Amino acid sequence: MRRFLPLLAAASLLLVLMAATAPVAHGYNITKILAQHPEFSTFNHYLSITHLANDINRRLTITVLAVDNAGMADVLSRHYSLLTIRNVLALHVLTDYYGAKKLHQLTKGSTLASSIFQSSGHAPGTTGYINISDHRAGKVSFITEDAGGASPVSFVKSIKEMPYNLSILQVNRIMSSPEAEAPVAAPPPVNLTELMAKKGCKAFADLLLAEADVLKTFEDNLDGGLTVFCPIDSAVKAFAAKYKNLTAEGKSSLLLYHGVPIYFSPQLLKSNAGVLTTLASTDGPKKNYHFSVKTDGLDITVKTHIITATVQSTVIDQDPDAIYAVNKVLEPRELFKVDLADAPAPAGSKKAHKGASSSDAAAGPDEAPSDQEASDSSAFRLAAAGRCLAASIAGLAAAVVLAV
Ligand SMILES: *[C@@H]1O[C@H](CO)[C@@H](O)[C@H](O)[C@H]1NC(C)=O
Ligand SMILES: *[C@@H]1O[C@H](CO)[C@@H](O)[C@H](O)[C@H]1NC(C)=O
Ligand SMILES: *[C@@H]1O[C@H](CO)[C@@H](O)[C@H](O)[C@H]1NC(C)=O
Ligand SMILES: *[C@@H]1O[C@H](CO)[C@@H](O)[C@H](O)[C@H]1NC(C)=O
Ligand SMILES: *[C@@H]1O[C@H](CO)[C@@H](O)[C@H](O)[C@H]1NC(C)=O
Repeated sequence: MRRFLPLLAAASLLLVLMAATAPVAHGYNITKILAQHPEFSTFNHYLSITHLANDINRRLTITVLAVDNAGMADVLSRHYSLLTIRNVLALHVLTDYYGAKKLHQLTKGSTLASSIFQSSGHAPGTTGYINISDHRAGKVSFITEDAGGASPVSFVKSIKEMPYNLSILQVNRIMSSPEAEAPVAAPPPVNLTELMAKKGCKAFADLLLAEADVLKTFEDNLDGGLTVFCPIDSAVKAFAAKYKNLTAEGKSSLLLYHGVPIYFSPQLLKSNAGVLTTLASTDGPKKNYHFSVKTDGLDITVKTHIITATVQSTVIDQDPDAIYAVNKVLEPRELFKVDLADAPAPAGSKKAHKGASSSDAAAGPDEAPSDQEASDSSAFRLAAAGRCLAASIAGLAAAVVLAV
C-alpha cells in the first residue's frame, strides 16, 4: 500500500497536468445533449444525418432553435430531399448566442440574427437572416427575412444554455423560407481517385487504387467527413524511390497519412486547423502520425517533422469532403529520418547550419499545437488529448499493478 499511494498521487498529478495542458475547448456535442430530451429525437437525428451537428460542434458561439417531434413530422410530411432539409434546419442554427434572458433584453425589441444557412452559399440576398422580436407581452417570435407571407414562430422554452457558447431553445414549429425550401440539385457522388486523377494527382490516385484496403479506409470516411491532401504528380514521381523502399505496412501508413477523418472547408483550413490526427494515427503515444496545418501569408502549409508542403489547389470542396493538392508527399517522422538537404534552414542563415546534427534539424518545424485557443478544431484536438490521456491512465494502471 505504501508504494501504491505515491503512484496514485502521480496519477492524479498527471490528470491535473493533462487537464491544464489540454487545449481550451467548448467541447460540446449537440447530439449527446439533445439525446437527453427524447421529445427532440427526430430533430436530433436530422441534425446528424445532414452533418449539421458537425457544423454546430465546430462553432464557438451558436444558438439552435429546436422543434419537437411533432414539429419535425410536419416538415417530413413535405417530402423534401435530405439536402433541402439540411437548408431548412440550417435556418434554425444562429451564429450568435441567444439565451432566454437575452431574448427578453433586445435593444429596440428586435434584432436580425444570421443563420448558418445565410453563410452556406445557398442563400441569396437577405435570406438566411432571422428577425427576432420581443413583443410587449413577453412573447418572443422568430421569422425569416424571406418568410413569403408565413407567420412567425414562437419561443417556447430554453432547453440548454452554456453562456456564451451554446444555447438550445425550443420554438413551436419550423420557420418558413422559400429559398431554403427550394429543391437542391444533388451533388455527384464523390469518386476520390477519379477526382484526383483529373486535377493533377493521378500518380497518387494510382497508388491508392493499388492498395484496396487503404482506398476503402478513405472511402469509408466519405460520409462522416474526410479531408485528403493529395501530392501532385511531380511530387509522387520524385518520391518513387523512397516509396519503393517502404515495407508493405509502411506504404499503407504513408498513404493513410494523407487523409484526415474530418471535413475541413478551405475557410476552416485557413483559420488554422492546428495539429491533425490522420487516418494513419494510432492511439499509442509513439506512432501518432500527426501533422500540422498553418497559414503562412497567403499560403496554407502542411508541416510534418520532416517536410513542409504547400497547398496548391482545392481539388474538391463538397461538404463533408474536401481534397487539396499539395506540392510534396507528406513524410511522417514515424517512417522517415530528417534529410538535411530538405530540412528548412533557419531564417537568414541559409548555410550557417550546414553541420547541424539531425536532431537539431528535426526540432525545426514546430508540430506543437499553437496557442490559439479559439481554433475551430479545438474540440477535435481535445478528443485527441482525451485518447492520449486514456492511454496514459491505462499505462499507469499497468504500472500500479506491477508495483503491487
Ligand atoms: C466558450 O468558448 C470560449 C472560447 O470562445 C471558451 O474559452 C470558454 O471556455 C467556453 N465556455 C464554455 C462554458 O464552454
Ligand atoms: C457525440 O455524441 C454521440 C452520441 O453520444 C456520439 O455517437 C458521437 O460520436 C459524439 N460525437 C463526437 C464528435 O464526439
Ligand atoms: C423585425 O420585424 C418587425 C416586424 O415586422 C419590425 O418592426 C422590425 O423592425 C424588424 N427588426 C429588424 C431588426 O429588422
Ligand atoms: C472511381 O474511378 C476509378 C478510376 O479512377 C474507377 O476505376 C472506379 O471504378 C471508380 N469507382 C467507383 C465507385 O465508381
Ligand atoms: C533504400 O534503402 C536502402 C537500404 O536501406 C538505402 O541504402 C537507400 O538509400 C534507400 N533509398 C532511398 C531512395 O531512400
